[in-house]
Amino acid sequence: MKSAAEPPAVRLDLLSQSFKQNPFPTWARMRDLGPVIRVRLPIFGKAWVATTYEAVNELLRDHDRFMQNPTLAGNRWMQTLLRWLPRNLQPVRTHMLLRDPPDHRRLRSLVDQAFQRQSVEALRPRLEVLADQALDRLAEQADRAPGVDLLAHFARPFPLAVICELLGLPPEDRPKFTSWAARFSGSTSVLGILWMLSGLSKMMTYIREELRWQSRKPRGGLMAALIEAEEAGQRLSEDELMAMVFLLLVAGHETTLHQIAGSVLTLLDNPQQLAELTADWKLADSAVQELLRYISFAQITKPRYAREDCEFCGQRIRRSQMIFACLAAANSDPSVFQNPERLDIHRLPNRHVAFGAGIHVCLGAKLARVETAIALERLFTRFPNLQLAIPRSQVRFTARFGSRALVALPVKY
Ligand code: HEM
Repeated sequence: MKSAAEPPAVRLDLLSQSFKQNPFPTWARMRDLGPVIRVRLPIFGKAWVATTYEAVNELLRDHDRFMQNPTLAGNRWMQTLLRWLPRNLQPVRTHMLLRDPPDHRRLRSLVDQAFQRQSVEALRPRLEVLADQALDRLAEQADRAPGVDLLAHFARPFPLAVICELLGLPPEDRPKFTSWAARFSGSTSVLGILWMLSGLSKMMTYIREELRWQSRKPRGGLMAALIEAEEAGQRLSEDELMAMVFLLLVAGHETTLHQIAGSVLTLLDNPQQLAELTADWKLADSAVQELLRYISFAQITKPRYAREDCEFCGQRIRRSQMIFACLAAANSDPSVFQNPERLDIHRLPNRHVAFGAGIHVCLGAKLARVETAIALERLFTRFPNLQLAIPRSQVRFTARFGSRALVALPVKY
C-alpha cells in the first residue's frame, strides 16, 4: 500500500442554527471534498467521514475492515472515555450497536426473535389507540393555552407509550421515563451532559429493578421474552439484558419522536404536499419514506474503527482511527436522488439510508415507519387546520451533534 500523507482536517459548521435549518449546502460541500474526508468533528475531534451514497453503503457493509468496538480496535481515547462512565452506566458500553460479530449476531438474533413474535401490522390497531390517547392529552393542553408544544405533548408521549408497552413496562411508570428521556435533548453543554447522565443513571437503576421483578413475575412483553431467551440457555447476562432494554427504550423513542415532530414541520413548510397527503392517505408510505430521507434525523452513524491499516475510497486509514458514515449526505447525493433538496412525497424508488445499512441496520425501521404514518394521519385528520403558533423563523433545532432534532414545536389549530 502506498503511504500517503494524511490530509488536513476540514472544519465544518455542524452545530449552528443556520446549518440545522438548512444542512443541504454543507452535505454538498462535504461530497465535493471527496467520498471519504478528514474532518474535525465536535466532541470526537479529528475523524474520517464517508460522504457519498456509495461510500456510506460500502463502509456500513464492510465488517471485515471496520468494527464497532473501540477497545478491540485499540482506540485509546474512546477506551478512556468509556472507562470514565459511572459504574451503574457501564452496561451501556456493551449494547448491541457497539458490538461486532459473532457477539452482535447472537444478540441481534435473540432480540429479532423476541421482537418479531408480533408483526408490526398486527400492532397497528393498538398503535392507533395509543396515538389517539396522546392526541386527547394534546387537545387538553391546547384548551388551556393558545399554543401547545407538539413535541412534548404528542411526538414524545406516543412513541414512548409504544415502546414501553412493547417491552411490557407498567403504564404508570411512563411519566418517569418522560422526565429522564427529555434530558437527552438538552445534552449540548457540560451541565446538560451531567443532567442527562443523572437521568440515564435513574433509568438504568429502574431497568435493573424491573428485570429482577420480571424474572420472577413476567408481564408478558419483550422484556420477559428476552429474559426467557436467556433461560433457554442463550446466555444473556444481566448486564446484556440491561444494555438491550436500554437500547430499545432510547433508540425506540428518541429517534421516532424527532422524526414525527420533524415530519409535521416539514409538511407545514410544504403545504401543497401536505394537501395531497391529507386528500389521499394511501400516499402515507411513500410520504414517510421521503420524510425519512429528507429529514435524515440521524445525520451521522455511531463511529466505526479501522481494524487494521487499510485503504478506503482512496484514503489511507490507520488502525483504530474513527470513521463515520454521514447518512444525511448520502441521502442527498444527487447521483442517486434527483433534486435531493426538494421534498417529493411521490419519490420512487427511494432507497434512502436513514436507518443505516449492513448488520447494524435499524431493528425498529418497520415500527418507526408505521408509527410515523399513524401519527401524521391521526394528527392531521383530527386537526386539519393545524399550524405553527410562532413565526417559522423562531422554530429552533437543538445544537446536538449528529442529529436534526427540534427543541420544541409550538402549534395551534
Ligand atoms: C425514525 C426513527 C428511527 C431512526 C431514524 C433510526 C435510525 C437508526 C440508525 C441510523 C441505526 C444504525 C446506527 C449505526 O449504524 O450506527 C439504528 C440502529 C438501531 N435502531 Fe433505530 N431508528 C429509528 C427507530 C427505532 C426504533 C423504533 C427502534 C426500536 C424499537 C430502534 C432500534 C434500533 C436498534 C436496536 C438499533 C441497533 C441495531 C444493531 O446494532 O444491530 N430504532 N437506528
